[in-house]
Amino acid sequence: MSFKPRITAPAALALAAAVLAAFSATPALAQASPIKVGLMLPATGTFAALGDAIEKGFKLHVQEQGGKLAGREVQYFKVDDESDPAKATDNVNKLIKRDQVDVLVGTVHSGVALAMARAARDSNTLLIVPNAGADAITGAQCAPNIFRSSFSNWQPGYAAGVVAAGKGYKRAMSITWNYAAGNEAVKGFTEGFEKGGGKVMKDLSLPFPGVEFQALLTEIAAQKPDVVFAFFAGGGAPKFLKDYDAAGLKKNVPLMVSGFVTEGALEAAGPSGQGVLSTLHYADDLNTPRNNAFRKAYALNWKSQPDVYSVQGYDAAQMLSAGLNAVKGDIKQRDALQAAMAKAVIDSPRGKFSLSPQRNPVQDIFLREAKGANNELRSVAVKALADPGRGCKI
Ligand code: BEZ
Repeated sequence: MSFKPRITAPAALALAAAVLAAFSATPALAQASPIKVGLMLPATGTFAALGDAIEKGFKLHVQEQGGKLAGREVQYFKVDDESDPAKATDNVNKLIKRDQVDVLVGTVHSGVALAMARAARDSNTLLIVPNAGADAITGAQCAPNIFRSSFSNWQPGYAAGVVAAGKGYKRAMSITWNYAAGNEAVKGFTEGFEKGGGKVMKDLSLPFPGVEFQALLTEIAAQKPDVVFAFFAGGGAPKFLKDYDAAGLKKNVPLMVSGFVTEGALEAAGPSGQGVLSTLHYADDLNTPRNNAFRKAYALNWKSQPDVYSVQGYDAAQMLSAGLNAVKGDIKQRDALQAAMAKAVIDSPRGKFSLSPQRNPVQDIFLREAKGANNELRSVAVKALADPGRGCKI
């Protein structure tokens, strides 16, 4: 006679629940599953090099922690966003819905990042923006689960305006790509410049990522302003610097640019980039133990020199580390993790910074001068500059 153990359906359910509870309460098991990081960055197009630098910076911090964050392995999921806002919602949903990542890290382009932020807010997915400056991300569209390790478009633009006014320039023109990053950088410049007594006479723009600058440069030559403010980045930036020089403007109309124009652009721009003044939250030659160690480790690891994008990627990982350490790696404790991230002081290569209540870095903006392949520190243009965070209700 065979023995058949009998177990009723409710008892079986209770047993299964008890086993599940026992296992999920086992820290070793919780630690065993990796943190899923969704990297949504450009791998193609005019911002491809920026995406690459952000990823390298992020991974450098993780490697420095022995390949783990708060004791948990890190598993990467990657999407090339092509800096294309039209594809942004589909792309971010590949990470949120298909891959079910724990945290999103992205991206470079403001228009793409705005769509990412919307999807992150709607799905309550943790998001760290490692570049895109769209003001609304830490302004009108802020949310407790959305953080930025970089800047708002307003910040370097405003500082450039303050410096230009301080140099006694009175009449300015601006030139940029016609999308959120360019338009908001110009708005920041105008605010800083006009507060200091200057006047922006005309704003010129072309569609992103166009590089047909000629007609606009002809207009600048005709108007002869005291100073020109520009925002371009990635592949478009060295082309702008070369065309500005070739049009004969470099010697006649001073440039005061957002630092992204000269960031990673100086080799390609050649002599046309040399001496250009810019404002940004990083300078290559910041002579601090922290920056020197970072630059050495990055160069050893990646066989290339870091730039501001690498720093922002590195700091995105540092921000995530701060949150995860506070909850001992249990990323499901989202409120505690986000609270820890919000009050963390990040020991960045750019200098220590904390976050504003809207979760955007409060940071020094430096005046730099392009020398050789580097953007060298000249002075602190504006100390501890906080984005106004307009319209944010957290
Ligand atoms: C932006 O779209 O926000 C952006 C892109 C490149 C450099 C800086 C800002």
